[in-house]
Amino acid sequence: MGLKHPRAVESLTIRIMGDPALRQRARPLTAEEITSKATQELIDAMRETMHRAPGVGLAAPQVGLPLQLAVIEDRETSMRELSARQRKERERKPVSFHVIVNPALTLESPPEVEFFEGCLSLPGYLAMVPRARQIKVECLDHRGRPRTIHASGWYARILQHEIDHLAGAVFLDRMRSTTFTSLENYKRFAAAGTATKKAPAPPPS
Ligand code: CO
Repeated sequence: MGLKHPRAVESLTIRIMGDPALRQRARPLTAEEITSKATQELIDAMRETMHRAPGVGLAAPQVGLPLQLAVIEDRETSMRELSARQRKERERKPVSFHVIVNPALTLESPPEVEFFEGCLSLPGYLAMVPRARQIKVECLDHRGRPRTIHASGWYARILQHEIDHLAGAVFLDRMRSTTFTSLENYKRFAAAGTATKKAPAPPPS
């Protein structure tokens, strides 16, 4: 497809589960495409859309574009309801805004860390999703420069979630299905469980 992108100031429409855009395999971008005005404007628009949602990550297929590009930012404000203990358990630390393009993911530990996770493309629902604690991502940045990211904890979870989107996969494909819950029932039941799992709902991505 050509790079016909919306204007940066506009908020993009987030596609909801059932939209075929979420199940397509995204294609890589060329270096020329990454540095183009259209892609730079797309990045700005995705950042704006992620902030407004609000969420901690957004992949291009979620706004209907089958491109291997995602934006990520986990701000202090999005984790202010977590206790110090909950932050530690989740290894949740602020991650500054950045872009990943054409990522190649390597799991450096088994996918066995389980926490509730949500998706902007399935608002109002959560499930426990096992994820690798430690990963490596080789990708390009917003300027097309090669970058190797070593991530662990919650940041690794966000990266795995976004990179799944680029392959047409969503957390439903990986979740512990019996834990699937509405956000309302999460607050009523799941978050009222054991002390270690009792936590405010995580922000979607
Ligand atoms: Co998602």
